[in-house]
Amino acid sequence: MTDHLIDPAATHEKLLIIDFGSQVTQLIARRLRELNVYCEIHPYQKVDDAFLTEFAPKAVIFSGGPCSVIDEGSPRPPESVYDLGVPILGICYGQQVMMQGLGGLVERGHGTAEFGRAYVVPRGELELLQGWFLTDKEQVWMSHGDHVSKIAPGFEVYGTSPNAPYAITADVSRNFYAVQFHPEVHHTPNGARLYENFVRMAGFSGDWTMGAYREQAIAAIREQVGTSHVICGLSGGVDSSVAAVLLHEAIGDQLTCVFVDHGLLRKGEADEVVTMFRDNYNMKLIHADEQELFLGELDGQSDPETKRKIIGKLFIDVFQKYANEIDDAKFLAQGTLYPDVIESVSFSGGPSVTIKSHHNVGGLPEKMGLKLVEPLRELFKDEVRALGTELGLPKSFIGRHPFPGPGLAIRCPGEITRAKLDILREADAVYIDQIRKHGLYDDIWQAFVAILPVKTVGVMGDGRTYDYACALRAVTSVDGMTADYFPFDHDFLGETATRIINEVPGINRVTYDITSKPPGTIEWE
Ligand code: XMP
Repeated sequence: MTDHLIDPAATHEKLLIIDFGSQVTQLIARRLRELNVYCEIHPYQKVDDAFLTEFAPKAVIFSGGPCSVIDEGSPRPPESVYDLGVPILGICYGQQVMMQGLGGLVERGHGTAEFGRAYVVPRGELELLQGWFLTDKEQVWMSHGDHVSKIAPGFEVYGTSPNAPYAITADVSRNFYAVQFHPEVHHTPNGARLYENFVRMAGFSGDWTMGAYREQAIAAIREQVGTSHVICGLSGGVDSSVAAVLLHEAIGDQLTCVFVDHGLLRKGEADEVVTMFRDNYNMKLIHADEQELFLGELDGQSDPETKRKIIGKLFIDVFQKYANEIDDAKFLAQGTLYPDVIESVSFSGGPSVTIKSHHNVGGLPEKMGLKLVEPLRELFKDEVRALGTELGLPKSFIGRHPFPGPGLAIRCPGEITRAKLDILREADAVYIDQIRKHGLYDDIWQAFVAILPVKTVGVMGDGRTYDYACALRAVTSVDGMTADYFPFDHDFLGETATRIINEVPGINRVTYDITSKPPGTIEWE
């Protein structure tokens, strides 16, 4: 089996999600992880008989998907999945593929498509629905063109909606369940209950806890690394911080962290990160002061992609320089998360457009002859935070807003100068202070100031000013892929603008960016 995520020695119970390409498959995994059930998403193309034998799932879920089971060559699970003797839950396309595979019929009828909110009414008793239908109907979210027109032998109907006569079906004797709607999405308000019932009926004990994960991850790191040395780029962000602390707990002095100060950090950031790791964790930490190098190379550059490429390349050079000085360095640690690992099922087949060249250390390990250690590969972001708490990292570190690798360079559109960076750092510090004072920090996904490449005329006291304008940005988001602006009240915005203009020489105008993503992006470059 390829891409085996978990330590083979691990004993926790596993649920397999077979992905047929739904946009919301990750949400199924989220719901299950919230129930302390370990699950992995694998694309249907990968799941064959050998895979199933090795993975040995305790239960299986078929995701939704954009295809039609009526079409030739449409995605299918291997037939052997039905002989595993474990509970199976099919969702939307997953229901249709199950019905067709077990002898039912799916059709593309007129007037039977359903998209969006629908109401299901129950029929008979089903343990899967325990705690549901406390009123006479349940709101669900549907998204189907085809529909099941004949259920497979052995199945009964337990719920119907206006356009899905087989909205909930089950073959209780075999523990096969299939629903036409999406219980994992927000618009099926009680959908989590269905997953809760499913995993309880499948016998999961809820053994996926961060305490258990910590022990298992430490054992796996020790086994992988042996007596060699590991280097870890530390940015002060939550992922690299948690990875570093976990590695340190596993291998102590065999770990060296490198913190690169590229001169594009926020006010006080370098001190904060270095002090916290050196003092609290007694960790080997190289504080690489490379401000001259980065700012020198960026001098005169104003194109966003050129700036990003310069920074990405310099990171690699600097990292390599320090890594070369460490004896027996055989591994590079990265804070890769599970969403980066999931291979999504692509039906378009086309390359996606590059919006921004995000900087990471991709390609670096081979160039340096290093192997990768990725101790967070199995975790979602909120699980990383839970692990950080479990490892005793201060709350102030765990709850930090994300900060991009290229730092303030992408918050300083146009040419970067030291003077502009200094002004930006001060304005950003005032803004974040305001957000904290108003108790809003944890409600906001990310907030920062961008200094604009434009000077404006103002009047202060009796004098004319001619200083920079800045933009405040604050967004709500789940994963940074989409975002909306944070709805500050006008008093907050007014007070913050006044404070920035009074306290930060060099800025005489403050604007608030109310662009969502899309069409905007979170950062300005
Ligand atoms: P955008 O601006 O693309 O940002 O909407 C989405 C999220 O990614 C962060 N970001 C980066 N993070 N290296 C990083 O590590 C990068 O090059 C980079 N560019 C953007 C951004 O701060 C936001 O959280």
